[in-house]
Amino acid sequence: MIEYRSPEISKKAKAVIDRDRKIMFGAHTRTSEIPLVVDHAQGAKVTDIDGRTYLDFGAGFAVVGTGHCHPDVITAIEQQIRKLIHISGSDFYYTPQIELAEKLIEITPGDYDKRVYFGSSGAEAVEASLKISRCFTRRPRMISFLGAFHGRTFAGMTMSGSKKVQRAHFSGLIPEVYHVPYPYCYRCAFAQTYPECIRKEYKGIPLIYCMSYLTDIIFERLIAPDDVGLIMAEPIQGEGGYIVPPKEFLPLLRKVCDEHGIIFILDEIQSGLGRTGKWFACDHVGIAPDITLTAKAIASGLPMSATIGKAALMDPDVDPRAWVPGSHGSTFGGNPVIASAAIATLKIIEQQLIKNADEVGGFLKQELIAMMDRHRIIGEVRGLGLMLGIELVQKKEDKTFFPPEVTREGKNIKEVITGECFKRGLILYGAGISSLRMSPPLMVTRDDAEAAIKILDEVITNVENQMK
Ligand SMILES: Cc1ncc(COP(=O)(O)O)c(C=O)c1O
Repeated sequence: MIEYRSPEISKKAKAVIDRDRKIMFGAHTRTSEIPLVVDHAQGAKVTDIDGRTYLDFGAGFAVVGTGHCHPDVITAIEQQIRKLIHISGSDFYYTPQIELAEKLIEITPGDYDKRVYFGSSGAEAVEASLKISRCFTRRPRMISFLGAFHGRTFAGMTMSGSKKVQRAHFSGLIPEVYHVPYPYCYRCAFAQTYPECIRKEYKGIPLIYCMSYLTDIIFERLIAPDDVGLIMAEPIQGEGGYIVPPKEFLPLLRKVCDEHGIIFILDEIQSGLGRTGKWFACDHVGIAPDITLTAKAIASGLPMSATIGKAALMDPDVDPRAWVPGSHGSTFGGNPVIASAAIATLKIIEQQLIKNADEVGGFLKQELIAMMDRHRIIGEVRGLGLMLGIELVQKKEDKTFFPPEVTREGKNIKEVITGECFKRGLILYGAGISSLRMSPPLMVTRDDAEAAIKILDEVITNVENQMK
């Protein structure tokens, strides 16, 4: 049993939380360990209503890449808000939306003619990509991955395979979606070891064993690949636990899709826009999908998503199989104020933050690996840039999970650790079944990284001491 101390909450903060609890929906994921009532935030620092400041290593779920309230983003919003707040980008024309789309076309992977659709959330980009693919291919079947998270709408929920609570009691879902194991090598679904699991090739690419489940079993026994309209994957699984697949994974998916005329969709909603030290996570292996989904960090916290795909898939003037005028749209998509914030955001990321994510992320990862050697409950450290995951295990030797409830109050290990970090001034989130994630704003400094490591180290030492 690990002892768990309830965080102290001021009367002022408690009053806000009590007021919120009476009227807000009950399906959210707030936990009692982090009773943070925010007043304001700047850069990588968040200040609560009692004037306490925290180092933010969550960035609002990888959203505020430029840091909280970046002055250039504020200026862009202020300037646009005086000119035009809304007119509907699906029906009329204005330059911020066009300028943003041009920039996204330039930076997204794929050396081909592209089109862009703007929505207001990641899940909307997922929805759009399903409609694009279905309309174009007229094929009913879809492939997704266990551990995936693609959002909370019916399409997002159906494509997800992260936690059962996200899908339980919401049937029926969208039919004909097949989930296959993601290459989560630390906990391989087939008890294989990478790279020894590679025993043959698929069309010239080394076939990691888990992918042979798709190519040799699913496509042989269960579904004809020419019934499959799309394969959707995260290049690094986010909510699933910050899982980085082997380098063969994306090339294999690309090959499978090319072989069978399947549309390849990469959900870069969490991993994209500089977080991994390149514009997109798939840039690390030089693979371009047919459709790229991005959201979260795109407008520094204002709600926006973009679905960027091959022109043929999205424009009936290029290919008559594409969706036609009136078949899709969004009232708020491409809003001029948000588009202006996004243009400023991409400029800041390009000029300063991709490099910083790579450098500070590299330092942070090296420190976390050193920490892993000192601690018996850290089984693996993984990730790229500032998208880093820490797998917690009860016993390193056999990778045993902590039981779901390890404390007197029934908190799980992720909650214990993130709660203790919070008490010491560090905001950190869990991910997957038993991992912690580090996803700070991309402007964090080496000093911030050192401070975060110091706190986490102390917390894990305490937890381990209590487990003796
Ligand atoms: C990879 C991925 N896809 C989709 C989504 C859904 O985005 P939203 O919550 O903006 O709908 C998320 C959100 O966490 C995500 O991480």
